[in-house]
Amino acid sequence: MTTLLIKTLRDICGAAHVLTEAADIEPYATDWKRTTRGKPLCVVRPADCQAVAAVVKACRSHSASIVPQGGNTGLAAGATPGEDADEVVLSLTRMKAIRALDPVAMTVEVEAGAILQVVKEEAEKHGRLLPVSLAAEGSATIGGIVSTNAGGINVLRYGMTRALVLGLEVVLSDGTIVDGLRHLRKDNAGYDWKQVFVGAEGTLGIVTAAVLRLVPLPRETVTALLSVADVGTALTLFALAQDTVGEALSAFELISATSIDLVERHAGLKSPIAAGEWYLLLEAASSLSGLEPAMEKLLSDAFEQGLALDGVVASSRQQAQALWELREHVTEAEAREGGGLKHDISVPLGAMADFLAEAGNAVSEICPGAGFNIFGHLGDGNLHYNVLLNGAKNADAVNRAVHDAVVNHRGSISAEHGIGRYRLSEWLRTKPESEQRLSRAIKQAIDPEGLFNPGKLLPKQAKGDAV
Ligand code: FAD
Ligand code: MLT
Ligand code: ZN
Repeated sequence: MTTLLIKTLRDICGAAHVLTEAADIEPYATDWKRTTRGKPLCVVRPADCQAVAAVVKACRSHSASIVPQGGNTGLAAGATPGEDADEVVLSLTRMKAIRALDPVAMTVEVEAGAILQVVKEEAEKHGRLLPVSLAAEGSATIGGIVSTNAGGINVLRYGMTRALVLGLEVVLSDGTIVDGLRHLRKDNAGYDWKQVFVGAEGTLGIVTAAVLRLVPLPRETVTALLSVADVGTALTLFALAQDTVGEALSAFELISATSIDLVERHAGLKSPIAAGEWYLLLEAASSLSGLEPAMEKLLSDAFEQGLALDGVVASSRQQAQALWELREHVTEAEAREGGGLKHDISVPLGAMADFLAEAGNAVSEICPGAGFNIFGHLGDGNLHYNVLLNGAKNADAVNRAVHDAVVNHRGSISAEHGIGRYRLSEWLRTKPESEQRLSRAIKQAIDPEGLFNPGKLLPKQAKGDAV
């Protein structure tokens, strides 16, 4: 059966695009953090949507499951195959055409395997911005950002990826190609089914192409770094920033002193300002000019009101880039340090200080030697509350303590990275049963046989069983 399936896949994609050797499969079988590993039957790389549909039909008729994969930068092990050797990794990386970019309608139609950064660069040539910004954008794909509903640093201004998706083309489990590639800003003709696929983490079908909304490319961007004593002060400063730079505020990021220490030690970077317990990285961007005086006023007000300990407004593009590097290298620096237990939480802003106190006390009680690498998108109420275990072995108890504090404040255990394999047990433990039932009903309606991405977001179902 396996030999026959591999032969069929080779007929569809060409022998060079069906990988079966262990060394060739390895990069697709491990997640970005290199902590989760699977044993796929093979990796298949179709060239177009018709080939994707043929691969889906072949896998279904041979009872093999499919794990969709883009740039494999996901942080929830959603693109990592399981260990049962009956899963085919379907990599979209050959499908990377930018089919059409309309600067007037401000839309781009693009295949799922296109790299986010490449699409952004193309948009910039037309004076437009695809406003999804994350440190992995040089490898993450459009299919991946749609399927994880990616966030990043500009959500504050432009929303999550979901807010940018105008149309999708998807392949369903029976091989049907659904062409919903409409370039419409207004379309209320029935259920907005495409939104079910956004953030579905590859569990409902394969996204093969998307139409995304663009925005005007800002002409002026101003970046500032401040240090503050505590998170309460950071939130007071957030209110001040909203009043001073208004809707131009495009990023409001929190970075702990521990995170800065990690990037200084592992990435060879240096903060240009005096330390506080916390740092804030702010960005304002506009198509009009006049932002710099507004940002300068924000800083002088912050000093006058005793909110900021130190701060700098970048005076050049290079300096702004250097400030952003401090933030963008945190993930990599933490990976180099090792022993980091990742959380991707969100709570209402008004509950943030209480959440931090509650989670901090609970973790320190369980794991007295723990460190805290906390950073993220404070303006969105989303922090990466990462615990440095420093050799401690009770990761599960720490996980539960952090998520219990999240639930106590009506927050989310995944603000932007998704559930994947990494958070499944915690999702099952913390998500109310009524919401779990709705999720299973959606899966049952769209992928009743559980062909796509088994064991991600929902538990793996036995072959032939209902979800
Ligand atoms: P993959 O990792 O390949 O896949 C992710 C999920 O989507 C999997 O479940 C997979 O099965 C599914 N999938 C992929 N392609 C398809 C498709 N075509 N059809 C159906 N399903 C598909 N994320 C954020 O949200 N915000 C951040 O700020 C952020 N920063 C990051 C920084 C670093 C350094 C790293 C390594 C990651 C970061 N991420 C961030 C996580 C990651 O980059 C995003 O989740 C991204 O959207 C994943 O894209 P990808 O192409 O690599 O997807
Ligand atoms: C980020 O905001 O940098 C990312 O989501 C990556 C991470 O959480 O490590
Ligand atoms: Zn993030």
